[in-house]
Amino acid sequence: MTGTQQLPSVDDVRTALKDVYDPEIKKPITDLGMVKDVAIGDDGVVDVGIYLTVAGCPLKATLTADTKKAVSKLPGVADVRVELDVMSDEQRTELRKSLRGDAAEPVIPFAQPGSMTRVYCVASGKGGVGKSSVTVNLAVAMAERGLSVGVVDADIYGHSVPRMLGAREKPTKVDTMIMPPQAHGVKVISIGMFTPGNAPVVWRGPMLHRALQQFLADVFWGDLDILLLDLPPGTGDIAISVAQLIPNAEILVVTTPQQAAAEVAERAGAIAMQTRQRVAGVIENMSWLETPTGERIEVFGAGGGQTVADSLSKSVGSTVPLLGQVPLDPRLREQGDEGTPIVLSDPEAPASLVLKDAAKQLSVRARGLAGMMLNVSPAGR
Ligand SMILES: Nc1ncnc2c1ncn2[C@@H]1O[C@H](COP(=O)(O)OP(=O)(O)OP(=O)(O)O)[C@@H](O)[C@H]1O
Ligand SMILES: [Mg+2]
Repeated sequence: MTGTQQLPSVDDVRTALKDVYDPEIKKPITDLGMVKDVAIGDDGVVDVGIYLTVAGCPLKATLTADTKKAVSKLPGVADVRVELDVMSDEQRTELRKSLRGDAAEPVIPFAQPGSMTRVYCVASGKGGVGKSSVTVNLAVAMAERGLSVGVVDADIYGHSVPRMLGAREKPTKVDTMIMPPQAHGVKVISIGMFTPGNAPVVWRGPMLHRALQQFLADVFWGDLDILLLDLPPGTGDIAISVAQLIPNAEILVVTTPQQAAAEVAERAGAIAMQTRQRVAGVIENMSWLETPTGERIEVFGAGGGQTVADSLSKSVGSTVPLLGQVPLDPRLREQGDEGTPIVLSDPEAPASLVLKDAAKQLSVRARGLAGMMLNVSPAGR
C-alpha cells in the first residue's frame, strides 16, 4: 500500500452501496442482488461490478453515476470504476420472487385486503371532456405533494396519457414483471407502450379485461399511495372490469358544464351504484373562458358539475362533492401536447390552482382503511 491513507475494506464499499437505489425498483441495489463484485486496488481505485436487471436498461447512466458518487465518498478512494453486467434469467426470477413473492398467478396488489393504495377511476359519460388532462394533472400534483403515484391509461383506444405526461420511454421487463416508465415522478403504463407506432388497437371485451388485469398485476408498482386509472368514455366493459378487479376503486367523474354532458356523466357515475363503488367526487372541466378583462365566458353553459354532484349525492345517499371547476385555458392543451402538465408549467394559472386543490382534496384521506367501503354484502343477497 502506498501513501498514508487507509484503504476501505470490501465491507465498507458494500455498506456505501446500500445508499445506491435501483432507479426503477427504488430499493437499494444491495438488497436486489445487483452487486456482482467489489475489488479494491492498492492505489485506492475501486472496481464495482453491477448487474443490470435487463440489457439496455434505460437508467444505467444514473446507476453508474450514483454508484461512483456513493463509493467515492469513502476515505482513501482514489477513483471508482463501474462495470455493468446483465442478470441471468435465473437471477431475474430470483429478483422477481423476492419482490413479488412466489405466487403462481400474479395478483393485483391493490385488490388485496389491507391494501393502502387509494384507487381512483377517472370516468365520464362523453368523450373529449378532459378526462386524460385531469388525470395527468392530478397525478403530478399529487406526486408534488410527496405521494407515490401511478397512472394506468386504461383507455385502450385513446392512450393519450404517456404523451401528456411526456413519458417517452418503453417499459422494461424483468422476468415476468413490467417496470413502468416514470415522468414527473409519476409511474405510468399504457397500452400505447405495447403497440408499435400509432396502430389502432381493436380489442374485444375479454382481451380488454385481460390487458387491464395485466397492467394491474404484472406491473411492478411498488408501494403506491394513489393509483389513477384513465377510463375510456362511457359505461363500457372496462368500467365493469375495474370494479371486478379492484372493488375498492373509487369513481371520479369528469364533466363539462353542459347539461347534456352532465346527464351522460350521471349515468357513468350511476354505474358505481351497480358495482357498489364509492364516488369520490366530480370535477367540472372547461367551465369558462376568462377574457383579459377578467370577464367569464361560459362557452359550454353552466351548472353541469353541480348537477352531477347533486344527482349522484341523491342516488348514493351521501354527499358527492364538486371538487372543482377548471376553466378553459389554451396553455392546458399546449402543455399537454408538450408533455408538461399545466400544474407544473404554469402552477399559478387559475386552472392549475383548481386542479391542485382537487388533488389535495383527493390526497388528504391518506393511506389507511378509514372510509374504505368494506367488501361485505348484507346477509341474504
Ligand atoms: N380546461 C381545458 N382548457 C383547454 N383545453 C382543454 C381543457 N381540458 C381539456 N382540454 C383539451 O381538450 C382536448 C380533450 O381533452 P382530453 O383528451 O383530456 O379529454 P378526454 O376526456 O380524455 O378525451 P377522450 O374521451 O378522447 O379520451 C385535449 O386537446 C385537451 O388538451
Ligand atoms: Mg382520454
